[in-house]
Amino acid sequence: MVAEGTRRSGTGPELDRIADEMQQEYIGRTTASERAYDRAKRSMPGGDTRTVAFHAPYPLTIVKGEGYELTDLDGNTYIDLLNNYTSLIHGHAFGPITEAVTAQLQLGTNFAAALEVQAGLAERLTGRVTSVDKVRFTNSGTEATMMAIRGARAFTGRELIVKMEGGYHGTFDDFEVSVHPSVDSGPDGFPVPTIDTPGVPQNRLQTVTVIPFNDVAAAERVFADHGGEIAAVTLEPVMGSAGMVPAEPEFLQALRDLTRQHGALLMFDEVMSFRLGYGGMQGAYEIYPDITSFAKIMSGGFPGGAFGGTDEVMSIFDPFSKQPLWQSGTFNGNAVTMVAGAAALDHFGADEVARINRLGDQLRSRIRLLLEMYGFEAVVTGYGSFGAIHFTAGPVRNYRDAARSNQKLKKVLHLALLQEGLFVAPRLMFCISTPMSESTLDEIDARFERALKRLDDVR
Ligand SMILES: Cc1ncc(COP(=O)(O)O)c(C=O)c1O
Repeated sequence: MVAEGTRRSGTGPELDRIADEMQQEYIGRTTASERAYDRAKRSMPGGDTRTVAFHAPYPLTIVKGEGYELTDLDGNTYIDLLNNYTSLIHGHAFGPITEAVTAQLQLGTNFAAALEVQAGLAERLTGRVTSVDKVRFTNSGTEATMMAIRGARAFTGRELIVKMEGGYHGTFDDFEVSVHPSVDSGPDGFPVPTIDTPGVPQNRLQTVTVIPFNDVAAAERVFADHGGEIAAVTLEPVMGSAGMVPAEPEFLQALRDLTRQHGALLMFDEVMSFRLGYGGMQGAYEIYPDITSFAKIMSGGFPGGAFGGTDEVMSIFDPFSKQPLWQSGTFNGNAVTMVAGAAALDHFGADEVARINRLGDQLRSRIRLLLEMYGFEAVVTGYGSFGAIHFTAGPVRNYRDAARSNQKLKKVLHLALLQEGLFVAPRLMFCISTPMSESTLDEIDARFERALKRLDDVR
């Protein structure tokens, strides 16, 4: 422990040595994963096909998931606090999903025709989400957001999209604007949009601009300057990419009011946050957008996504409309995803949503307490079943606050947590799944404390 009154910020010279020690320990207990990684490198650049899941020195190779437990190629087990980036609401190999999918496989996987199971999942979404009268399905959250944006542009006849600095909405050109920008891209409060991904055309900057999350003045300014050009404002009600940062209600309300006043659409990306309320996070805030994108839990662990909105907005996709917006996709609404999504939602009623949200609240408090006890300068953000750790004095209200936190210390704690059998995102984001209970939290707490003890030399 550090002396009372002093805080560990992880800025001392010893952090490099501790990082090296953690890495050596990791390599020592994951030799089979290392061999698998060396093999993968021969056929995939960097041995990887999903950059977000990559971390140094190499990611674990996981061979099995059951409930909240993962097993790697070396036989090490982990409590899964990531759930494939929040998408596996019921953990792994959930019985009802496995049964529904197995039954559907006997009947065929997809047909270029209408499927009853599509309407089944569509009704579940429209039944839960107040602002959604109609939905369309896609194969991923990326495609859902892409189509929602196209819909917003077609509906308003305008091109400019306002997104949040640091907001991630999938991997497509329009939204590769200021996803991981330097914190010096313009002064705080006045971010200059940048393209931080090679290969994305610079002309995207003509049709996408950014404001800081939770900044009402910036929202008012962008509408004062560009009100008549804005097709939509897009944001996550709890910003996942910045590290689970909830929107302040007055910010969401300001965006709702401004978009209405200026004839723009408000678009919520609820790809991640849908699980936080029975009717999504919009239901929890009681602030309703015109159009919403979904994915992750709604497709029950299979590839899928959806976008939906009011009858009026969604009517532009209606083949009977004058100039219907074309939306195609060989696997859109495929039967396997539909039945998996329906089973996932049927077992995630309002009581379950509330129960795992409470577990998340407890877990964040417990982690906060441990970080405090061990003297770390840290902020734990989140809402309900979501949480994230930031090594900073805080507060963390937007992307820049999170990006300025100590990233090296995050990496070190990530490896320490893996050593203790806690599987979280390398950016220290975590979530609860329904197989978990209070006794799971006790186990997580004990492992988390052991991981912090490993970092006793951090100053
Ligand atoms: C908020 C948000 N939007 C969109 C996406 C893209 O979804 P997908 O990975 O299914 O394409 C993600 C994925 O992590 C996300 O977190």
